[in-house]
Amino acid sequence: MVQLEAQIVDITTLEVDAIVNAANQSLLGGGGVDGAIHRKAGKGLLRECETLGGCETGDAKITGGHGLPTKHVIHAVGPRWSGGGKNEPELLARCYRRSLELAREAGCVSIAFPAISCGIYHFPPEQAVKIAVRTVIETLPSTPAVQRVVFACFQDDMLALYRAELDAQAPPSKPA
Ligand code: AR6
Repeated sequence: MVQLEAQIVDITTLEVDAIVNAANQSLLGGGGVDGAIHRKAGKGLLRECETLGGCETGDAKITGGHGLPTKHVIHAVGPRWSGGGKNEPELLARCYRRSLELAREAGCVSIAFPAISCGIYHFPPEQAVKIAVRTVIETLPSTPAVQRVVFACFQDDMLALYRAELDAQAPPSKPA
């Protein structure tokens, strides 16, 4: 059974195989979780990101963890919310799928996601959390090495949304 959990935690502190960054197309850093990751990882991460040539929205690229306690950072570029008519839900789902694919290729057993697009990119949190949980659950059968997924939240209201969605989509199995 894959362990799916939501926690209030600064994602930069997690000792997992990969943390996902909510990046922008340049992959050269920014505010929010991206800023926190680059600050803690140090200049080596920026230097590695400079070699990647950016990234399309809905896609992701992987680097080392540099000064972070994680082995890898997966930089996913979520969509900026502009009303929902610009394929934002599918682009967000793709971020989760691509991140898990990259985690599989890197042999990751544990991975942590922030709430991609829910900050500076203004994606409505209820919808984003549904997409995040559903897409991860749908993709896990094709990434059998991944055994633990953490949804790292910064706010209590986000945590409540993730917990409700996990209860609805992946209820804990009852003891026999
Ligand atoms: N750990 C966990 N979650 C965090 C952390 C943290 N250290 N810091 C923020 N969050 P955002 P986006 C939460 O804005 O909306 C950057 O400038 C935050 O509360 O980081 O995808 C990039 O370069 C929110 O719930 O990402 C892009 O330009 C969630 O993480 C743009 O922002 C995502 O918020 C991307 O915007």
